Amino acid sequence: MSWRAYHEATKHTPERLRRANYTLDWANMPNPYRHYEGVPVLDLAADPAAPEISAYDVLRGRMGTGFVGRLSALLFYSASISATKVAPNGGTYALRVNPSSGNLHPTEFHFATRGMAGWPDGLYHYRPSQHMAEQRGRGDYEFDSPLVFVLTTIAWREAWKYRERAYRYCLLDMGHAWQALELAARALGCTCEATGAFDDAALAARLGLAEDEWPLLVVTVRGMEEQAGCAGPMELLRGTPNELSPDANVPAMIADVHAATRAGQGSWRRVWPVSDLPAVGGRAFGETVRGRRSALDFVGGARAMPMETLLALLAVARVGPLTMYLYVHRVAGLAAGLYRFTGELELIRAGDQRVAAAGLSLGQDLAGNCCVAISIVAELEGAQSEFGERGYRYAHIEAGALGQRLYIAAEALGLRATGIGAFFDDRVHAYLELETGQVVYHFAIGYPVADPRLEY
Ligand SMILES: Cc1cc2nc3c(=O)[nH]c(=O)nc-3n(C[C@H](O)[C@H](O)[C@H](O)COP(=O)(O)O)c2cc1C
Repeated sequence: MSWRAYHEATKHTPERLRRANYTLDWANMPNPYRHYEGVPVLDLAADPAAPEISAYDVLRGRMGTGFVGRLSALLFYSASISATKVAPNGGTYALRVNPSSGNLHPTEFHFATRGMAGWPDGLYHYRPSQHMAEQRGRGDYEFDSPLVFVLTTIAWREAWKYRERAYRYCLLDMGHAWQALELAARALGCTCEATGAFDDAALAARLGLAEDEWPLLVVTVRGMEEQAGCAGPMELLRGTPNELSPDANVPAMIADVHAATRAGQGSWRRVWPVSDLPAVGGRAFGETVRGRRSALDFVGGARAMPMETLLALLAVARVGPLTMYLYVHRVAGLAAGLYRFTGELELIRAGDQRVAAAGLSLGQDLAGNCCVAISIVAELEGAQSEFGERGYRYAHIEAGALGQRLYIAAEALGLRATGIGAFFDDRVHAYLELETGQVVYHFAIGYPVADPRLEY
């Protein structure tokens, strides 16, 4: 199955939603935590110091300085648990620094280390439930940096709820996780290079991954001190992966599109540039990323976002060949309307967009109550096609990355955001009068309503 066939088959339409009679099987809900059992589990330092650099400075490419014990901090500020929510039945569930569609967290963080002070060389899997690392291998994994992350996805976690459309969410979530890692690394004085171009099967075998985990991204971190001497050649300890559900069953369409997108060409690599954007202040990185949350809904009413805040948000959220369409509801000094943003704001439809934005986002009120809602459009047939079928992965990963940058920028500047993976694809295309391109992600930014279920 090509990405085109998959994408077409997983578009939301009112008719498909009406016909869908899928009910969630709560007894089969996937465990949000993968554990590799039977291997040593190492403590990561508790309560690592918070990076004081401003979150906006990190977004514009500046780096923090003066950190020790950075491995623990890197994970604490990118992938760890940061809050809990109280469910209506009184139970609690965890929320993490990186957001995730349905809070189902398909992304797993693996990393290989070499010559890092106080930390044995080897291959590790991060255990967010305890902020610990499972040692899945010993010795030198011979990656080209002392610290390399391999991010994998477990499609079943998303498919349990979102069925066939879930692969898109896995890719978007991957983009969020990548940027969470990238921004934390920068705040700690390191740089990252991400690539999605590798031999999937060879990498999975090298890491001894469970069959339900698919590698999607390799993120090389540079700037952690390398010590002299390494602990010999690699030895895979592997560990036994836990079962996530009694009956994990990934839809055939997802397995098919994942297989199709193994084929690719070109080398998709991303190193974040330092920009010449001015500083705008805002909150410190540590408190911003650990305080980041998705808004359940926005206050609506009359409160408008300042124009300079909107421009500051947009300036740090440009990723790859993606175009943003803005449904401007309330921005001081900017008339309500639909705008295209490609470096500058271009009005393409004047007037109130609240009903349109909410309606196109599957009737979710938050897209009408926010100050600005966004459709992110990728040129899947155009710019991304240079990578062959694999370009489908990259377009969604980049859209997720853009979303993560919007989340952090919004939070840093006193607003809040929510990613929206559910929208009526073709209706969006018609409304935006697109001649080319596919909508891959929606987003909402504004002033949030209080969420009484949150505990930090
Ligand atoms: C790819 C993606 C799609 C999402 N889609 C929606 C959505 O359609 N509606 C919504 O209310 N929230 C959506 N969210 C927000 C998640 O529900 C939220 O991230 C999750 O519950 C965890 O909460 P947190 O972001 O506060 O950590 C989405 C998040 C992501 C990353």
